[in-house]
Amino acid sequence: MPTVLLLNGPNLNLLGSREPEIYGSTNLTDIEEQVSSALRERKIEFEAYQSNSEGELIDWLHKQRDADFLLLNPGALTHTSVGLRDAVLAIDIPFLEIHLSNVHQREEFRHHSYFSDIAIGVLVGLELKVICLRLSLLQIILSKNQYLHPMTDSQ
Ligand code: DQA
Repeated sequence: MPTVLLLNGPNLNLLGSREPEIYGSTNLTDIEEQVSSALRERKIEFEAYQSNSEGELIDWLHKQRDADFLLLNPGALTHTSVGLRDAVLAIDIPFLEIHLSNVHQREEFRHHSYFSDIAIGVLVGLELKVICLRLSLLQIILSKNQYLHPMTDSQ
């Protein structure tokens, strides 16, 4: 059974109450539950983790080498963290970069990402609708083996 990870970075534990006009009003537990139940229906194992600490996010990723796919919202670390980028590269799991807000409509410092060039794709904006999109996309991605190990395929 394939395993999909959902990893959320700093301040995403505050979803629901944090700037709802930007991030929507759904909290992280509800998002994780929705993703979890939809994936389990599709016979896909699911693990979720959130931390406000860069080191904890990296340590958690190091333990997930056997997973098949990663949904990653690095939060503010998107724009700053070479360390988290290196951890994603080290475990060599294909991943989608996800942002609930449209970072390109926001401050200029949010326009650069340390993850987009190594992700198989990037989803930005749409708030909660991203979740539905994620799941449909995941079905496609997981059913197409060429996306499961893109590094090996391109070598
Ligand atoms: C975010 C966008 C980041 O710029 C911000 O720091 C976040 C959330 C998003 O989901 O829109 O914390 O990743």
